[in-house]
Amino acid sequence: MSKYLLIGGAGFIGAAIAKKLVLAGNEVSILELPGSYVDRLDVIKEKINLYYGNLNQVDVIKDLILENDINVVLHLASSLIPSSSQSQYVEDIEKVVIPTINLLPLFSELNIKLIFFSSGGAIYGENLNGSLSENHLLAPISYYGQAKLLMEESIKFESRKSGLDYIILRPSNPYGIGQSLYGKQGLIATCIHNILNRKTIQIWGDGSVVRDYIYIDDFVEIVINVINMATSREIYNIGSGNGHSVNEIIEMLKKIVDKTIEVEYVQNRAVDASSIILDISKLKNIINFEYTSLETGIKNFLLYESSDKPI
Ligand SMILES: NC(=O)c1ccc[n+]([C@@H]2O[C@H](COP(=O)([O-])OP(=O)(O)OC[C@H]3O[C@@H](n4cnc5c(N)ncnc54)[C@H](O)[C@@H]3O)[C@@H](O)[C@H]2O)c1
Repeated sequence: MSKYLLIGGAGFIGAAIAKKLVLAGNEVSILELPGSYVDRLDVIKEKINLYYGNLNQVDVIKDLILENDINVVLHLASSLIPSSSQSQYVEDIEKVVIPTINLLPLFSELNIKLIFFSSGGAIYGENLNGSLSENHLLAPISYYGQAKLLMEESIKFESRKSGLDYIILRPSNPYGIGQSLYGKQGLIATCIHNILNRKTIQIWGDGSVVRDYIYIDDFVEIVINVINMATSREIYNIGSGNGHSVNEIIEMLKKIVDKTIEVEYVQNRAVDASSIILDISKLKNIINFEYTSLETGIKNFLLYESSDKPI
């Protein structure tokens, strides 16, 4: 059985994966920044090893890997989102990209399988026709996407150089229980926050921007399957393969809450590609998966969030 280290494992995606791994009887260690929000791990806190530290502490991470006999590392740490600025990009290079580059030879030396969480949208950039396969041109138009590209290239380079074992995952837009309603990322979470707080939802542009949404439980199940079944040194898109516009999501929410939702359309953003739908044929070659429908996923999320705050 594998022993996992999740770097950035108290975040939305990491905590959801950690819970599932623990439930399946795996040993899980988590490295998180001192002072970070770790409440998502409350239900499993007795069953995991939670360490406070930083990506840039190569010796600490080496000891942690050896002490816990880790053989799989999930890299979930990032300080950027698609709207991040140039100065935040430079800071991410210092605090995430370079420390990761410094860690890669260690992972190789210790025969670690590295699972890197890249981006399934921002790394591809603008796309006007059809869905995006893993071989599509990488042409980010955001600093976030560009930072992911630097990370992917560094991982592939280290693998050519020293044989690093890796899988790169390119997630679309995971949403659902555990996602922060207060973050600057995540359309569905933001809409739910505004509905529950009776606030107007601001939409950048005319609401035609299309994204590929995936329910967090589906996402986690797929990630764990990919880690166990996929060929190493490969890249996998992880999404639903379907696109929905912002306006469709708003209509779906209206139907679910059965009342009007206040919406205001504002100036669109240069960092938002008009359509991102992932081609998931490569994923389907290794996994046969029944997805939660978008409506059911949104209903579950809304129901959970409205348990102490009636709609
Ligand atoms: N959530 C999404 O919609 C989405 C979509 C595509 C890709 N991703 C990628 O998946 C990964 C996880 O996303 P998430 O939504 O769980 O993010 P998150 O912000 O909820 O979690 C990231 C965690 O990393 C930790 N972290 C940051 N810098 C660190 C450092 N130097 N050392 C140790 N820990 C550090 C943070 O404290 C945080 O808990 C990220 O790399 C993100 O870019 C997320």
